[in-house]
Amino acid sequence: MVENNIHPIFDRMQSRSDKERQLGQRGATIWFTGLSGSGKSTIAIALEERLSREGILCRILDGDNIRTGINRGLGFSEEDRRENIRRIAEVCKLFTDTGIVTLAAFVSPTNELRELAREIIGDEDFIEVYVSTPLEECERRDVKGLYAKARRGEIRDFTGITSPFEVPVKPTLTIDTTNRDIESCVDEVYNVIIEKIRLTK
Ligand code: ADX
Repeated sequence: MVENNIHPIFDRMQSRSDKERQLGQRGATIWFTGLSGSGKSTIAIALEERLSREGILCRILDGDNIRTGINRGLGFSEEDRRENIRRIAEVCKLFTDTGIVTLAAFVSPTNELRELAREIIGDEDFIEVYVSTPLEECERRDVKGLYAKARRGEIRDFTGITSPFEVPVKPTLTIDTTNRDIESCVDEVYNVIIEKIRLTK
């Protein structure tokens, strides 16, 4: 393709399967969606630890590291959330194509946004985990104090309060973290993904 004077060099680069053989694992993206404070990043961090102990290379992407870096300047309007997720999905694809198990923890509040991510990353490599902890519990935790601010009208378009969250249509897994210990949540995700990321020779 020489459209726009861009000449891809993919055919001369090492392939995904070369990378996967080198790492001894298969790449995939585990996409955690759910309200702020639902436990997405907490599960991702504990899962990373477990997979790492088994020698599996992972990368976590979450709102805090992405929105202060590559997506600095994007807000929470519908348009900005779309651009946020589009760029994140492209980054997930790069990691996944490098054979890395990519753990993405983003509110991604609508089916349209999650479908966009799935489309970019590829259905085969996209495992959707809905962290379904209800709003009341997320608000009770209010780890970052953002729900209180949103209730006081100090944050606009806050997901669950003044901006919608659509329940995912067909997630691979649904986990409500209310009254559950983190290890049992991690076990559930682990059991679903492990066969997919193990390299069968
Ligand atoms: S997304 O909707 O575009 O997927 P993302 O996951 O990147 O959101 O960022 C969500 C995090 O940003 C929340 O966990 C919260 O800490 C913070 N945040 C700040 N303002 C908002 C808001 N208006 N709505 C939701 N989250 C917000």
